Amino acid sequence: MNQFFIAKTSDIKDGELKKFKYKGRDAILVNTKGNFHAFIDYCTHAGGSLTMENCKLKCVTHYALFNPETGNAETLPAPEGSSLMEIKLKIEKNKIYHLNVIIFKSKGK
Ligand code: FES
Repeated sequence: MNQFFIAKTSDIKDGELKKFKYKGRDAILVNTKGNFHAFIDYCTHAGGSLTMENCKLKCVTHYALFNPETGNAETLPAPEGSSLMEIKLKIEKNKIYHLNVIIFKSKGK
């Protein structure tokens, strides 16, 4: 499986995010307590960009909050039960790669 380097684990501190491109789309890599997750940078409400604030992903357009580990929406106006599109990662020798794969979730997970 192809893998694409994004960053070293030391490049992103706990509670921070790094923007990168995934197949030409804006994407974010987040660190929450040493756990790394990546999502398409596209809010489930109306496509706003996301930032990290107080350990939550926050849409900069209408301020919906998302869980940075699951991508699940936690506040309106993001639709209840919606999730950010998660990008599959691989971490090897302190380097973070994406695998060109979106993780699809069934509703409610
Ligand atoms: S576009 Fe994100 S809350 Fe509206």
